[in-house]
Amino acid sequence: MLGKLTLEAIPYHEPIVMVTLAAVCLGGLAVFGAITYFQKWKYLWTEWLTTVDHKRIGVMYIIVALIMLLRGFADAIMMRTQLAVASSDSAGFLPPHHYDQIFTAHGVIMIFFMAMPFITGLMNLVVPLQIGARDVAYPFLNSLSFWLFGAGVALMMISLFVGEFAATGWLAYPPLSGLDYSPSVGVDYYIWALQISGLGTTLSGINFIVTILRMRAPGMGLMKMPIFTWTSLVTNVLIVAAFPVLAATLALLTMDRYLGTHFFTNDMGGNVMMYVNLIWIWGHP
Ligand code: HEM
Repeated sequence: MLGKLTLEAIPYHEPIVMVTLAAVCLGGLAVFGAITYFQKWKYLWTEWLTTVDHKRIGVMYIIVALIMLLRGFADAIMMRTQLAVASSDSAGFLPPHHYDQIFTAHGVIMIFFMAMPFITGLMNLVVPLQIGARDVAYPFLNSLSFWLFGAGVALMMISLFVGEFAATGWLAYPPLSGLDYSPSVGVDYYIWALQISGLGTTLSGINFIVTILRMRAPGMGLMKMPIFTWTSLVTNVLIVAAFPVLAATLALLTMDRYLGTHFFTNDMGGNVMMYVNLIWIWGHP
């Protein structure tokens, strides 16, 4: 079930990663202990983690986005420090493979797990209030979107301590992101983190479009909508247009890596051969 992951995937030999892991474990234990000590588990579970209230979901999006901002910032500091200390005499403190993972994680986190959820959090907080709706159109779907995003965040963070993250840059272009040049689990983490959280983003885009188009207070025509609600509508139309394309390309990259297809490379005839590839796969389950 764990595929390429074995116990050797934990980078014991990387002091930076191990110190971070120890700090995260200690911090996690402290938070866990504090919640238990103050008997807040029930409150946390019923009022926050399982809530379908748009304001609370909005606050949770923003809290997670701020945590990820810290992570992205830590990556940025490590990159800038490496660039400052490395010279022709010294290779600096980050080996190239580790640097590449850090700048990929930095880009992916800052865009998909910091900027986007921050805006989604603001939209959750503000849009229903601005248009006079009690909640978004599909409150449970809203919670599902948040937790799909949470699953993406979890995968992203786990990749720091188990295995590695992609070393391809945040756009993960093939052939660099293909099996030949990225045989390890890094690109797999990238694919699943983005695919799962991207599904959440698409669902939340649909949710907001329906909310804004169908749930405005009586008398609030489109031209009377506050400018932030307009911004949200346009942003979500863009999301619903763009994210299925991302999902499809990620699925093609997954097939290239897992099933031996060649959607993105010229091997076996490249794109011209993609239909042949598909037929071959269907014929050989
Ligand atoms: C604390 C401030 C920040 C610093 C010091 C910083 C530093 C850097 C550096 C040094 C790189 C280049 C890495 C390289 O190519 O070797 C980089 C790349 C990048 N940064 Fe930042 N950054 C900061 C904040 C942000 C924010 C707020 C965002 C987005 C919301 C962002 C998004 C990106 C992206 C998308 C890349 C490209 C990553 C890639 O090529 O895969 N950064 N950053």
